[in-house]
Amino acid sequence: MHKLNQEELLKKLEEKVERMVDQIGDKSPHVAKADGIYDDMPHEWWTSGFWPGLLWVLYDMTENEKFKDAAMPWDEKLQKCFSHHPNELYHDVGFQFLLSAVLEHEITESEKGLGIGLEAANYLAGRFNPAGNFIRAWNGDKIGWAIIDCMMNLSLLFWASRVTGDPRYKHIATLHAETTLKYGIREDGSSCHILSFDPESGEFIESIGGQGNAPDSAWSRGNAWALYGFANTYKHTGDSKFLHAAKRIAHHFIAGLPEDYVPYWDFRLESIENEPRDSSAAAIAASGLLEIADSVPANEKKLYEDAAKNIITSLTENYGTLDQPEHQGILVQGTGHKPANENINVSLIYGDYYYIEAIAKLNGWERRIF
Ligand code: GLY
Repeated sequence: MHKLNQEELLKKLEEKVERMVDQIGDKSPHVAKADGIYDDMPHEWWTSGFWPGLLWVLYDMTENEKFKDAAMPWDEKLQKCFSHHPNELYHDVGFQFLLSAVLEHEITESEKGLGIGLEAANYLAGRFNPAGNFIRAWNGDKIGWAIIDCMMNLSLLFWASRVTGDPRYKHIATLHAETTLKYGIREDGSSCHILSFDPESGEFIESIGGQGNAPDSAWSRGNAWALYGFANTYKHTGDSKFLHAAKRIAHHFIAGLPEDYVPYWDFRLESIENEPRDSSAAAIAASGLLEIADSVPANEKKLYEDAAKNIITSLTENYGTLDQPEHQGILVQGTGHKPANENINVSLIYGDYYYIEAIAKLNGWERRIF
């Protein structure tokens, strides 16, 4: 295949996703293993927004009704989780509902999407712990745990403040970002996955490795969530400390990339021999780097924009499936959860989503929900 320009790449992806709509049908995809067939997860699972999100972004770019028709039912499908599986929803409602109900509302002005998006924002705001100024991540006995991924879910709260005129949502989002910055981002721009607090006093207890290699390591996808999440928080608040944080995280991320710009699953491994890459971390970071590029003065843009383009080019050439029409994933070599030995060297729907999102941005997509 000759080297595709951004426009040709988007066209090829449109053709690929048209096929995926038929191949995936009603499934809620999360992982495709070596057979290239996406699984079907329960709708309460944290990844259920990425497939409708991918369809909405492509619909917004192409006005291809096939994408809209396939995306439209997902807000109501996911809304049912509030009544059917209330104990299986976490802070991840941000990922789930921003990419379904909120995108639907923003693109089509649907009242249905607005109402469901706000229901999710109220749920997320209800997870805030005011003693420690953090949003609780998971359920069960993890009452005092906050995680780095949650930086991406704050946009649901910023959006809710924008559409309702009620600043409480954005106050919660900003306080959570400040707490994460204080305890979760190290001086060198790296971060770990889990922060543990005493849920009663709010006191910080410790960092926990979670999906990373160790408490003092740097899980690459977590670092990508942080990079993108702080870039968004700057855009929503205008507070330069969040942009400085995003830049610091980006510098650490870029400096840790191997020659082909796609990170191993953790930046701190004693040896990289036989260790898997995580293409999803690369895709998330690429889209986040474009937000940083959009926020810095003209003479700083190139660093972030070039890094994003290098990542996308490598993903397309070395980790893509454009030449495999039967493969339902778009990217391969994602790593889900290495310490648990789960979903290694697979396609991950969130890797596919952020890859498409970054390419849409490189083709002029201006709508922002994160
Ligand atoms: N827990 C979300 C992730 O795997 O990135």
